[in-house]
Amino acid sequence: MTEFDPSRRRILKATAVAAGGTVTAVSHVPQADAAPTKQAPQQASPASVSILLRVNGTDHEMMIDPRMTLLDTLRERLHLTGSKKGCDQGQCGACTVIVDGRRITSCLTLAVMQQGHDITTIEGLGTPANLHPMQAAFIKHDGYQCGFCTPGQICSAVAMLDEVKAGIPSHVTDDLTQRPGMTVVEFRERMSGNICRCGAYSNIQDAIAEVAGVKA
Ligand code: FES
Ligand code: FES
Repeated sequence: MTEFDPSRRRILKATAVAAGGTVTAVSHVPQADAAPTKQAPQQASPASVSILLRVNGTDHEMMIDPRMTLLDTLRERLHLTGSKKGCDQGQCGACTVIVDGRRITSCLTLAVMQQGHDITTIEGLGTPANLHPMQAAFIKHDGYQCGFCTPGQICSAVAMLDEVKAGIPSHVTDDLTQRPGMTVVEFRERMSGNICRCGAYSNIQDAIAEVAGVKA
């Protein structure tokens, strides 16, 4: 029976020998039998770019990955988390913001493309102490349940009423030579890109109708 030597030098020596043995064994495997190795294609990360975004009346200068969407930039970089990421594919409307008075789905546009434009998010429409009329109407008519779609619904509704006032027709406008009417039929068609999983549609409709000054 050999005497146990717990010295550090001896343990290191034993470890080194074991490792060397392993390496030797592997190196004896014929190359033809070795499994082919696949290398994942390397994706070059594009350099960050400097951008200037005007959001809710404030200029924000920052360095971003040019592939960042406006939605991610608003939420992750500016911490304006009112705009929600539902589908990230332009299908649900939860990310709707207003750019130069027109509503867009911020998940489908790059932040670099929105330089020089006026971006308004739900945070810029009103404050708890000074609500936008559409925000107040949503509260009054209980136009939400979980609230996830609500910022997008409100931004969309505000810009939508401006579209009707400006005379822009929709698929349900009967006479394209006339200005579209302020009707619930027009509102429903124009808000169809904003999905509410809670099904608060009838109350949302009442809120919009009240702001538009028409009977729901
Ligand atoms: Fe943009 Fe759904 S998250 S449309
Ligand atoms: Fe819940 Fe619309 S209120 S999704």
